[in-house]
Amino acid sequence: MLDHLPNQSPEPRSVWTASTQMPLYGSLRDDVRTDVCVIGAGMAGLTTAYLLTQAGRSGVILEDGDLVSGETSATTAHLSNAIDARYLEIERLHGERGSRLTASSHTAAINTIEDIVRKEKIECDFERLDGYLFAGPNDGAETLREELAAVHRAGLTAVEMPRICASAVPRGRACLRFPDQAQFHPLKYLAGLARVITRDGGRIYARTHADQVSGGALAQVRAGEYLVSADAIVVATNTPINDVFAVHTKQAAYTSYVIGMRVAKGSVEKALYWDTERPYHYVRLHQMVDSAGPYDLIIVGGEDHKTGQAHDTEERHSRLRSWAQERFEVVGSEQFAWSGQVMETIDGLAFIGRNPSDKDNVFIATGDCGMGLTHGTIAGLLLRDLILGRENAWTDLYDPSRKTLRAAGRFVKENMNVARHYAQWLAHSSVATTEEISPGSGAVLDRGLRKCAVYRDESGEIHERSATCPHLGCLVDWNPGEKTWDCACHGSRFDRFGKVLHGPANRDLAE
Ligand SMILES: Cc1cc2nc3c(=O)[nH]c(=O)nc-3n(C[C@H](O)[C@H](O)[C@H](O)COP(=O)(O)OP(=O)(O)OC[C@H]3O[C@@H](n4cnc5c(N)ncnc54)[C@H](O)[C@@H]3O)c2cc1C
Ligand code: FES
Repeated sequence: MLDHLPNQSPEPRSVWTASTQMPLYGSLRDDVRTDVCVIGAGMAGLTTAYLLTQAGRSGVILEDGDLVSGETSATTAHLSNAIDARYLEIERLHGERGSRLTASSHTAAINTIEDIVRKEKIECDFERLDGYLFAGPNDGAETLREELAAVHRAGLTAVEMPRICASAVPRGRACLRFPDQAQFHPLKYLAGLARVITRDGGRIYARTHADQVSGGALAQVRAGEYLVSADAIVVATNTPINDVFAVHTKQAAYTSYVIGMRVAKGSVEKALYWDTERPYHYVRLHQMVDSAGPYDLIIVGGEDHKTGQAHDTEERHSRLRSWAQERFEVVGSEQFAWSGQVMETIDGLAFIGRNPSDKDNVFIATGDCGMGLTHGTIAGLLLRDLILGRENAWTDLYDPSRKTLRAAGRFVKENMNVARHYAQWLAHSSVATTEEISPGSGAVLDRGLRKCAVYRDESGEIHERSATCPHLGCLVDWNPGEKTWDCACHGSRFDRFGKVLHGPANRDLAE
C-alpha cells in the first residue's frame, strides 16, 4: 500500500506520522492486576507485549502519549545487522564471542519482524534489500577491508566488498554489501502489532503517565490515582524513567536530523546506505503516491550532536539537503524535515534485562545506539525469555549491569561532559528581562538565585517554569528549532510549557 499525505502540518512530523492514522486507546480508569505491565508503547514495549501475549501471559501497556508517539515515530526504519558502532569496535569491546552474538541477535531480530509480518498479515511495506556501507571522503578501502574481516569473524560471511557498488554510492568509493537487510513502515507495523495484542487479550492504555515503579514479588506501577499490580514490569520508555543514576552514567542522548525529498523515478537504486563519516549519513527510499502516481522519496539522516548542546536545527537540515542534492536527482523542494533522539551507550550495544538498582521483577530496555528497531525486537525476545524463566544466550551481552572495561575512556568522557554542564548554574542568563524574549521563543532568566525557563507564546503571553531539570538538577536550555526545553546532561526534553516529553526526567518542569 503506497502512502498518500492526508494531513501535512507545519509541525515537524516524520513521513511515518504524516502518512498513518494510528489506532486510539483510552486511558487507565481503574486499578488493574496483570501478569506483565509494560510501560511505553514504542518498538521495544509493543514487541515485548506482543511476544508475551503470544506466550500466554496477560499484559497491560501504559503509554504517556498516544500509540508510538515517542522516538519510534522519528526513525528512518533501516532494519540491519550492519551495527552502527561497527564490528571492529564491537569486537574490541565485547570480544569475538560478543561480536558473533551481536550479529546473530540483530539477524534474529530482522527475521522475527519478517515472521510477525507474515503470520499476522501486517501490511507495512516490509521488504528485504541490500545494505551498503561506503567510505566517507576521508576513509579509504583499507578501513572497509578491516571492517569486512571483523564482520566475517562475527559470522556474517555473506557480506562482501564488491568491485561495483550500488549507483547511490559516490563513484570511486569502496563499499561493503550486506545482503538480507530490510526496511518497513514502522508505524503501520506497530499499529498492526497493537491490534493483535488487544485481539489476544492485551490491554493498551494511552495518555496514561506511569509516575512510579516498584519491584517486589508483586511489582507495582502507580499511574496517577490508579495502581497496576503485576508479576513483572517492563520499562520500555526509551530511556528508563525508574532508574535515577546507574544506567544514565553509561549512555548519552544524541539528536539526529532527517529530511525527505522526492527524487527522479528509478534514479536511486533501492537499498539501505550508510557512510563512514562521523557523524555518519544514513539513507533509504520510501515509495509515496500523489495524483500523478507513485514516486520515490529519499530519506537522508545524520548531523547528530549531543542533545542540548547545539540549537541550529535549520542549518543541520540545510546541510543534509545540500548533501542529498549533490548526490541525487532531487525533484522539487523538501517534503519532510524532522529530528529525534538516540541513546548511545558507551560500548555500542543496548541495555536489556533486569534493572540494575531494582532486580526484583523490573526489567528495562534502553540504549538503542541508533539501532532501536532491531534492539527493540531483541528486547522483546530476551525479556520474554527472562520473564518466563527461559535461558537466553544474549543475557550477559545485553545485561544493563555490565561493566565494559574497555569502554572506560568513553565513560569518563561522557560524564566529564555532564559535569561541565552543572557549571551553567554559575553563568548569567543570556537575557535579562522577559521583554527581550520574542513571541514564539524562550530563554532562561535569572530570578535571584533561581533560574527560570520562560516562554513567550505567539500571542505574547509569558509562561514561566523552573529551569531545573527534575532528573538530577542540571539546567535546561531553549531549543529554538524544536521549541523545546532540552537538558544537556542526560537528554531529558520538555515541551515549551514544561511538560516532560522524554526521560529520564519523569516529571514536568516545576511551576
Ligand atoms: C532520526 C532517527 C533515526 C533512526 N533510525 C533508525 C534506523 O534506521 N534503524 C533502527 O533500528 N533504529 C533507528 N533509530 C532508533 C529507533 O528508531 C529508536 O531507538 C526506537 O524506535 C526507540 O523505541 P523505544 O520503544 O525504545 O522508544 P519510544 O518509541 O520512544 O517509546 C517509548 C514510549 O514510552 C512512552 N513513555 C515515556 N515515559 C513514560 C511514562 N512515564 N509513562 C508512560 N509512558 C511513557 C513514550 O511516550 C514513548 O511512546 C532512529 C532514531 C532516530 C531518532
Ligand atoms: S536529564 Fe539528567 S539532569 Fe536533566
